[in-house]
Amino acid sequence: MKTHNKPLVIANWKMNLIKNDAIELISKISKLDDISVDVVICPPDLLIETIKTHTSITLGAQNCSAQAEDFGAYTGETSAHMLKNIGCEYVIIGHSERRKHHLEDNNSISAKIANAHKVGLVAILCVGENLTERQSGISHDIVLEQLSVLPKTSTKKNTIIAYEPIWAIGTGKSASLTEINLMHKYISVLFENRFKLVYGGSVKQENAKDIISLEQVDGLLVGAASLDFEQFYKIIK
Ligand code: 13P
Repeated sequence: MKTHNKPLVIANWKMNLIKNDAIELISKISKLDDISVDVVICPPDLLIETIKTHTSITLGAQNCSAQAEDFGAYTGETSAHMLKNIGCEYVIIGHSERRKHHLEDNNSISAKIANAHKVGLVAILCVGENLTERQSGISHDIVLEQLSVLPKTSTKKNTIIAYEPIWAIGTGKSASLTEINLMHKYISVLFENRFKLVYGGSVKQENAKDIISLEQVDGLLVGAASLDFEQFYKIIK
């Protein structure tokens, strides 16, 4: 069941765009006056402050440190506190690309969510099965296990769940409407409709409207299509 009337569209820019291109894109998005959804943009950390000076659109980060401290000898890390301090309101946690390339596991993901909650960031927890798991019929079990990291402090206000089947990310082949609805329904029943649920994985202008219209979908998490102004505009208008 939808938990929110206005859909939420989150743009995950991943490791893309340099300063001038990012400013150009955010300036165009900010000028739009016919947007029908709530938008959150998640640029690379390096660009967050610059982007902030060019827009009033809500911003998020793509990751935060798992260390409990706000500061410390953790080379290359950025704490949730630092993100909050530069104006972020959201942070993506446990994206499958981070699970794969940075070996993130339930322990680090759970610590990151706790850190986000501690400073008042909304945690966007990404879950989703790979192709082998889907073909073996264990998608729900995989997602259930990934959801077990949610701390007791998780509420509708501080947590969003993003269902992103790995086989649909960056492949051009999104999950079917039935597959999306079934998984979202499973999660929503599991948590008694407590969290907003967004879908991610090859969302583009052609399928965004159908996906967002699904009974169980509160919004979208968009990768590649969020980097192209025309595409993104068609998704959010
Ligand atoms: P694509 O939209 O490029 O498939 O990426 C989805 C994603 O990973 C968003 O977090």
